[in-house]
Parts: sequence; structure tokens; C-alpha cells
Amino acid sequence: MADLDALRDGLRRSLPELGQIKDAGLREKVVEAWALALSQSEFTRIEEIRPSGNPDSPPLKHGTQADHLRGVARVALGIADGLEQAVGPIGVDRDLLLACALCHDLGKPFEFSPANQARWRANPAASGYPALRHPVYGAHIALTAGLPEAVAHAAGGHSGEGELVIRSLENTIVHYADRAFWRVLARAGLLEGNYDQPAR
Ligand SMILES: [Fe+2]
Ligand SMILES: [Fe+2]
Repeated sequence: MADLDALRDGLRRSLPELGQIKDAGLREKVVEAWALALSQSEFTRIEEIRPSGNPDSPPLKHGTQADHLRGVARVALGIADGLEQAVGPIGVDRDLLLACALCHDLGKPFEFSPANQARWRANPAASGYPALRHPVYGAHIALTAGLPEAVAHAAGGHSGEGELVIRSLENTIVHYADRAFWRVLARAGLLEGNYDQPAR
């Protein structure tokens, strides 16, 4: 297992948008959560994870999984800024929005792990395939790391899993920013292969 300090250092280099979270306690919990998620996998940097929305969906031609998180964080802020410039305050907590965006895919080291994929594929009867998708595992990591419930909610409900609940304001923004990231880049020709499946 990689040294947790090395994981934290790598994390800070992978996600410079962390610096925009004003609450130092929240910022450090985002770092802790990602270090924990990576420590439970064979990955040591977010950039080592396949740059796709799901293990079997088209990856970015150029760029990394860290670019995905950075892009979603920036698009989410853009949605909040654009709407507020047009209609006035909508009550978005910028710190929380950034934490939700940077943490929404916390479960990917687990779901995208080649070792886990091989294990689940070899015997889906044992614990399913996958045993847990990344939203569910990400919510587990978020809560274990002491992140606020609202951040665990964004991890757990940013994707199809969120169709079973009422999403928070920040999670609604993250969910659409996440979809926009993959749909827009697909249409721009920046993903490998076709991307006509619903984004998850
Ligand atoms: Fe996701
Ligand atoms: Fe995502």
C-alpha cells in the first residue's frame, strides 16, 4: 500500500482546484477522502485511473481522470456563476459545490480497479459485478473520511443512483456538470469511439 503522505501530496498536485475551497477543514477532508480511496486500490494517483465515466465507457483521447474532476468542478462553478449573473442569488454554497464536484467520483479507484474488475468478472455470483458501483462506494469513502453528509450525497447520488432520491442543490449542479463533461466532449470528438449510451 502506498504511503498516505505520498498519496496526499499527489492529490494536491492532481487537483489544483482544491485551493479554491476556502474552508481549510473541508479542503483537508477532500484530500483525506481521496487518499483513503486510492489507498484501498492499486492506484497511487488519480491520473492512473482509466479516464472514462464508467469502466466500459469511452475514455478521453487526451487527458486524465483528474482532468475530469477538474473539468466538472469548473463547469459546476460556471453553472452557478452564470445562473446567478442572470437571475440573481440561487443559494449555492461555493465551498460545498467544489467539494461535491471534486469528490463525486471518489468511488472510481474501487470500481475501476483492474484487480477488482477481474475478480468480479471471474465470478459475478460471489458478490455481483461490480459488487458496488462507484457512487455507492464513493459515499462510503466520503462518510468514512468525515466529509459532510452533503458531500457523501453528491458522491452517492450524482449518477443513475441519484434518480431514486431528491438531489440537493449542489448535487443537482454537479450531476449536470458531470453529464455535460462527457456529452460535450463526445460531441467535440474528444472521446475514443462512440458515446451514445446514457451517461452514468
Ligand atoms: Fe461518476
Ligand atoms: Fe464523473
